[in-house]
Amino acid sequence: MNEHVSTIQTLALELIAAASDERTLDEARVSVLGKKGTLSLAGAAIKDVPGDQKAAFGQALNTARAAITSALEEKQNALLEIADRAALSGIDLTLPARPVPIGALHPLTLIRDEAVQILRRMGFALADGPEIEDEFHCFDALNTPADHPARNEKDTFYFNSGKLLRTHTSSVQVRMMETATLPIRIIAPGSAYRRDEIDATHLSVFNQLEGLYVDTDVTLPDLKGTLEYFFHEMFGTTTEVRFRPHFFPFTEPSFEIDVKLQVKGQAPRWIEVAGCGIVDPAVFEAINATRKDRVLDHGKVTGFAFGMGLDRLAMIRWAIKDIRLLIENDIRFLSQFA
Ligand code: PHE
Repeated sequence: MNEHVSTIQTLALELIAAASDERTLDEARVSVLGKKGTLSLAGAAIKDVPGDQKAAFGQALNTARAAITSALEEKQNALLEIADRAALSGIDLTLPARPVPIGALHPLTLIRDEAVQILRRMGFALADGPEIEDEFHCFDALNTPADHPARNEKDTFYFNSGKLLRTHTSSVQVRMMETATLPIRIIAPGSAYRRDEIDATHLSVFNQLEGLYVDTDVTLPDLKGTLEYFFHEMFGTTTEVRFRPHFFPFTEPSFEIDVKLQVKGQAPRWIEVAGCGIVDPAVFEAINATRKDRVLDHGKVTGFAFGMGLDRLAMIRWAIKDIRLLIENDIRFLSQFA
């Protein structure tokens, strides 16, 4: 009986050695180990083996099975290797790879991150607010009632619900003052919307960065120093910065800030970059009324606020002549920032 098993093993190993592809190898496997395979049938015959020979026969079966299984495995690996080599023949692995195009941050992201970094160094924390606002946070609380002419300049898009797309990030000031404890020192970058005619310098959506500092001893020199430092960091320490009196309903006094810059290929000139001022007591009063306390008592508390257009800063930094380039996603434009 045991010789029978060893013959099966010898034949099986010959079959396996002769198999030239996966299919013939599989046929060999089935013919030996399959349900009706030679070794399986021999195994089934164990019941006819006399009791004292059963153990030796079982052992012979196991040895044969182990030898055949490992021969199958080895052959399988050898065939796979041959197939791999065949698949690679004719391919030159030393050829350089096709270049993967490298992405770049959008110029608005670059300028926003830079502005945020400068202001965070001075202790301003990031704040956020909704772009779909209500009239209270966008206008009324900012001393701009419904009949105020400043609403015209900042005309925006209204929803049927009465909500609107915020025309400036100043609404975030209001939201922070409604909940925060003193001191408040925040910056809020984000989108703002206006119903402007679209041209090379106007879009109906643009990006602002708002700042607010409220405490018991905030003064005009603080405002000036902060923003002068900011624009020196942004455009170089020798850049001239000037504060030109202006009007905003929510600050008094108010200023527009100009920096003297030379845009590539042009003579140096003053360019308006931001609005700012000392928070109007009327703003504190409106917010005290909703807070139902006097944390923002204008006899004790003062503050400054500023807002700047990030699109404008990006256009100055990179001499971008048309603001529309910033939203058109033209790869020829954007890849220049990679
Ligand atoms: N909100 C003003 C604007 O959109 C900018 C500004 C912010 C001015 C804060 C003063 C203080 O034009």
